[in-house]
Amino acid sequence: MSYVDLHLHLLPGIDDGARDVDEALAYARRMATEGVREAAVTPHICNDRRIEPGEVAGLTAQLQGAIDAEGLGVRLHPGGELHPRRAGHLGDDELELLAQGPAGRRWLLLEAPFAGIDGDFTELARDLQRRGFGVVVAHPERAAGGIEEGMARLAPALELGAVIQVNVCSLLGNHGLYVQEAAVALLRSGSAHLLASDAHPGSREHTVRLGFDLALGAGASSVQAWRLTQVHPRFLLRRGLRPSTSAPARVAA
Ligand SMILES: [Fe+2]
Repeated sequence: MSYVDLHLHLLPGIDDGARDVDEALAYARRMATEGVREAAVTPHICNDRRIEPGEVAGLTAQLQGAIDAEGLGVRLHPGGELHPRRAGHLGDDELELLAQGPAGRRWLLLEAPFAGIDGDFTELARDLQRRGFGVVVAHPERAAGGIEEGMARLAPALELGAVIQVNVCSLLGNHGLYVQEAAVALLRSGSAHLLASDAHPGSREHTVRLGFDLALGAGASSVQAWRLTQVHPRFLLRRGLRPSTSAPARVAA
C-alpha cells in the first residue's frame, strides 16, 4: 500500500502553493521518496479567479508530464479546494471539473471557513449534496469558534454523508495549540475520515506520510492511522462518496 493525498497545492504558479515547476517537481520527488503515489491537486477556487475550473485538468496534465519524464511514479488527479464564497456560484458542469470519484459518486473538497462554521456553510454543503455531489469538508479544525460547536452545526451535512478531512500541519501544531487540540479531538472522537497534507511546496513541505506518525502520536492505532492516510483517501478516489437521499435535518443557527 501507499499513501494518497487529497489536498495539495502542487500546481505551479497558480495560488500560494508551488511557485514554479522546479518547486513542484522537488515536492513530487519527496512524495515518491515517502511513498505518496497518488494525489489530487487542489488549487484554491475562490473569487480572485486566479484559476478557473476549466483550466485545472490541462495544467494538471502538464505537470503530470514533467513528473512522468522523471519516472517518479506519482499520479495526479485534477481537483480544487472550493472556497465557500465561490462554490455556490459554480454550475454543475464547473463543479464536475473539480470533483473526484466515479460517475454517480462524485465529491468535492469544500474549505471550512476560518471565521467559523455557521448555518450558511452547512446550508452550502447541503446544497452541494442536493445537487448530487458528496462533500469532503477541508480542515474544520482551523475554523474559529470551537470544534464541538462547529461539528454540531455541521451535523445536518454529516448526516447526509459529508466527511471530515484534517490537515497534517494542524496535527503538527503549525497553526497553534488551539487548532492542534481541535485536530487531535477530531481524530480521537472518530470524526476525522482522512488526513491530507494541504502542503504548499516552498512553505509547507511535509507530505501526508507524516500524518501517519502524527496520528499514532495523537493516540490512533496503527490500523486507524493506515485508514486515515491510505485506505479512506484511496477509497474516495476509487469508489467516491454519494450524498444520502434521506430527508435533510434542520440547520442549526
Ligand atoms: Fe488547501
